[in-house]
Amino acid sequence: MHIAILTGGGDCPGLNPAIRAVVRHAMKSYGHQVTGILNGWQGLIENQYRPLNMDMVSGLLTKGGTILGTSRTNPFKIQSAPEKILKNFKDNSFDALIAIGGEDTLGVASKLYRESEFPVVGIPKTIDNDLSGTDYTFGFYTAVNIATEAIDRLHSTAESHHRIMVVEVMGRHAGWIAVYAGLASGADLILIPEEPFDIEEVCAILRKRHKRRDFSIVVVAEGATPKETKEFTLKDYKLDDFDHVCLGGIGALLAREIENRLDVQTRYTILGHIQRGGTPVPFDRILATRYGAKAVELVVAGDFGKMVALQGNKIVAVDMEKAVKKLKTVSKEIYNLAKIFFG
Ligand code: F6P
Repeated sequence: MHIAILTGGGDCPGLNPAIRAVVRHAMKSYGHQVTGILNGWQGLIENQYRPLNMDMVSGLLTKGGTILGTSRTNPFKIQSAPEKILKNFKDNSFDALIAIGGEDTLGVASKLYRESEFPVVGIPKTIDNDLSGTDYTFGFYTAVNIATEAIDRLHSTAESHHRIMVVEVMGRHAGWIAVYAGLASGADLILIPEEPFDIEEVCAILRKRHKRRDFSIVVVAEGATPKETKEFTLKDYKLDDFDHVCLGGIGALLAREIENRLDVQTRYTILGHIQRGGTPVPFDRILATRYGAKAVELVVAGDFGKMVALQGNKIVAVDMEKAVKKLKTVSKEIYNLAKIFFG
C-alpha cells in the first residue's frame, strides 16, 4: 500500500513521534510505502510531498513540532480545493491517508470521508485536549507540564513581592490546560471558559485570601469570559480559516481589574506558544506512538472514517464524525475539585 500522512492545525509536541510510529510500523511490519504531505491540507491541494523512510524518522521521538510542517488551511473555504484533493490523491496513487489533527483537520477528513468515501484515518492531537471520543489527545500533558513549571516559578516571585500573579494559558474554548496546570501547581483561583466569571466574586475570593496570605496565583484560560463584559472589552479579534477567534489577552485585562479593585500589585504572564514548543513529555511520546501504530493497523484493515482514541488504558477506534461533532469541555466534577483549593 501507499500511505500518505499529514499534520494539520496548530502544532504540538508528539507530532513527530506519531509520524515516526506510522512510518516504522507501515514500512517495517508491512513493507508499505509512506509519503509525507507538507503543510496539512494545503499540501494535498498544491501537490507538496516528501517521501519518507526509516532513516528520515530516526531521532524524531524527542523532537517537538512537525517535520511535515502544518497549516490551518480549510479546503472547504477554497474554491475547487476538495476536488483538487481527491484528484491529487488519485494521481499520486495514494491508497490511504492518515490525518493527524484536531477538530478542524479531522473535521475536514470526516467530511471528505462522508461525502466522497475518502480513505482516511484520524489521529487526535492538540494541547487543548478538547476532542470527544478520547480521554487524551497528545500534546496536552506536555503543555500542562510547561504551564505547571512556569506557575511554580511565578509562585516564588509572587511570594517575595506579595503580589497577585495572573497566568494566562491556552486551550481555546476548553479549560483543560488551566484546570490541570492550576491543580498541579496549587493555583489560588482558576478561571475557565466553561464557567463565566464574575469579577466581583473573583476579587472577593482574593480579598479573603489576602487576609491570610499576602500573595496569590490566578490561572486564567485564554477563552475564559466575564459574565459582565463592561470592563473587559476584548476587541479586534481576528478569525482563522475555520472561523475561530484568535484568543489571547484576557490575562492582562483581568490583572488590571484586580489591581484597580484590590489595591494589591498585580502582574500578568501570557504563556502563549511556549506551551506548544519543545520536546514532548514521555506520556505524549508513548501516546503518539500508540496512536501512530494503531492508525496503521486501521489502514491495513481498510477501516476508514475512524479516529484512534485512548479510552481508559486501551487504544480503540471511534467514529471520526462523532469525535469532531462536539467539543469535549471540562467536567463539573474536575472543576469542583479545583474549587476546593480556591482562596
Ligand atoms: O488549538 C491549539 C491552540 O494553541 C489554542 O490553544 C490556541 O487558541 C490556538 O491554537 C492558537 O493558534 P495559532 O497558533 O494559530 O495562533
